[in-house]
Amino acid sequence: MLKLPGLIDVHTHLRTPGGEHKEDFASGTAAALAGGITLILAMPNTNPPLATLSVLEATRQQAQRSIYCDVGLFAGASPALVDQLPQLTNHAVALKIYLNETFGPLRVEDLPTLLACCRHWPTTKVIALHAEGPNVAVGIGLAAAFQRPIHFCHISRKDEIELIAAAKRQGLPVTCEVTPHHLFLTQADVPRLGPLADMRPRLAEQADQAALWEHLDSTIDCIATDHAPHTLAEKAAATPPPGVPGLETSLPLLLTAVKEKRLSLGRLIMLMRTNPKRIFNLPDQPDTYIEVDPEASYTLDNADLQTKCGWTPFAGMTVKGRVMRVVLRGQPVYDAGRPGQENKILAPAGTGRLLP
Ligand code: DOR
Ligand code: ZN
Ligand code: ZN
Repeated sequence: MLKLPGLIDVHTHLRTPGGEHKEDFASGTAAALAGGITLILAMPNTNPPLATLSVLEATRQQAQRSIYCDVGLFAGASPALVDQLPQLTNHAVALKIYLNETFGPLRVEDLPTLLACCRHWPTTKVIALHAEGPNVAVGIGLAAAFQRPIHFCHISRKDEIELIAAAKRQGLPVTCEVTPHHLFLTQADVPRLGPLADMRPRLAEQADQAALWEHLDSTIDCIATDHAPHTLAEKAAATPPPGVPGLETSLPLLLTAVKEKRLSLGRLIMLMRTNPKRIFNLPDQPDTYIEVDPEASYTLDNADLQTKCGWTPFAGMTVKGRVMRVVLRGQPVYDAGRPGQENKILAPAGTGRLLP
């Protein structure tokens, strides 16, 4: 058995409030534990979004009652609500700005709002961007002009990662994450998966994927799941919402890559624990670890999942490496191997801590 630190996912969608039929704090944090993740940062593109003090406070109360692992919330930027930003800083770990079209109501496309965000959000806390294509250059411009940390979510294209590498060479305070789906899937998987392969950013070409793997040891700071659950019925509809779940499949996929010598175990821990903790200034979790069976070979199966959406685009894929146990602050909270026991979650709801 391999003992590893509890992993951190800096990009999870938990859907409370307004999308609890897709996921809620209980099901989402149970899925995190099943994936070896003990701390997640939840995104603000809920309905209503986490962009006002009243919604943030009500959501925090919901969360504290329900969570099985530690959770921090992102506040969301929106042009109409930007004057509320100073009130949100104490209740959120970081600020998220959506520069491109994606799921949910949050979008910022005007310069005054971007400037207000950079001026009013404390420089001790990260601003994370959903930025695709040329908008990556916009984010680099903000980091340079304001000398403040900017984190790029789910970078997926060769040009984008090369631009970020250049910005880093200039010493700019930028960081970035990539997702497992962009590391393990490409446009070539779209005919097979249909709407189950639709997300933002969209799956890329093989050359883009190769560039991500090349930069995994250098430019890329984090691997984040962008766990974005939608129901199978919603995915089968005429205009399916973009997004795929990922909390429970990320570590098995990456451990398989470690087995195949595409990634070292040390680098995996940097990408999913050390760097996320440093970049987002997250607290220690003493006596918190996961136990993994690195030799367990199995086929990913929708029926095994904790996520409420009940599917994964990786179903049918054979992986090597299974999360067996999770211990949070000395308390066993997940056990995959208890004979005759259906329920693998050992912790009562509310065991997780809400940050900050
Ligand atoms: O595919 C995506 N789904 N990309 C996003 O940026 C949002 C996410 C969601 O919330 O479903
Ligand atoms: Zn996004
Ligand atoms: Zn996302």
